[in-house]
Amino acid sequence: MARKTTHSIRLMKNKGKKIVMLTAYDAPTAAILSEVGVDMILVGDSVGNSLLGYESTIPVTLEDVIHHSAAVARARPDCLIVGDMPFMSYKVSVEQALENCGLMLQEGGAEAVKIEGGSDSVVSIVKTIVDAGIPVMGHIGLTPQSIYQLGGYRIQGRTADMAEALVKQAVKLEEAGAFSMVIELVPSETAKLISETVTIPTIGIGAGPYCDGQVLVLWDMLGLFEDFKPKFVKKYANVRELIKNAVSEYSKEVREGTFPDKEHSFEMTEEETGRLYGRTKSRDG
Ligand code: KIV
Repeated sequence: MARKTTHSIRLMKNKGKKIVMLTAYDAPTAAILSEVGVDMILVGDSVGNSLLGYESTIPVTLEDVIHHSAAVARARPDCLIVGDMPFMSYKVSVEQALENCGLMLQEGGAEAVKIEGGSDSVVSIVKTIVDAGIPVMGHIGLTPQSIYQLGGYRIQGRTADMAEALVKQAVKLEEAGAFSMVIELVPSETAKLISETVTIPTIGIGAGPYCDGQVLVLWDMLGLFEDFKPKFVKKYANVRELIKNAVSEYSKEVREGTFPDKEHSFEMTEEETGRLYGRTKSRDG
């Protein structure tokens, strides 16, 4: 498969080809996603909830995402790598945003950054970053870094007025130069209108079937978590059960002494074994 670029991702919308995006935070997973032809990998700040044990994405740092993005990049996937800019890593000043987005590419090996929000101040930051030559993916609708302001993980754009406000944000992000945007947790009708209005690809999560592509958090769709069951996540596997079964089997065999067996152990030649035991015997007297 040819390596995906922001250009080829944009062309997919023109050709009516759906775009497949998933999160990944490590090299082996990135290699698997590349092997099966996923178009884009998001090194999301969801690493906080998925891997680091946080309850939200707020505590995730730039260093955390860069660390995981660099691991993904070392797998050299054919997928476009998008590094998620974490909470407060791009809103303090234009200088801070430029410097940190630059680090995401230089140290994290990302090929684009994702930035949450559609307010005028975020749009202006997006424009500056794009002008500096860094591709930006926008993110509107539910923006998890603003959950305290939004009053929790609530569906956005539910009324006609709210939907129209989101369309305006999307248009401004496109005008600012974003190459695509995530739309999170909005009614299908709202996402449809946004997708029909902008010419850049929309990537939905909890936004219905009309977006130009879809993204899910990999560990949610693989079924790693027992208690996290949002309506928009379809479980394609039950990795939690697979891990539990494998670990239980291993524990049982270790306790019974049936692992490691001959097949999983190394042996000396008979001659060396004889010499070794001969020595032990002569030492015993
Ligand atoms: O961090 C993440 O995984 C995300 C997706 C939910 C879009 O931002």
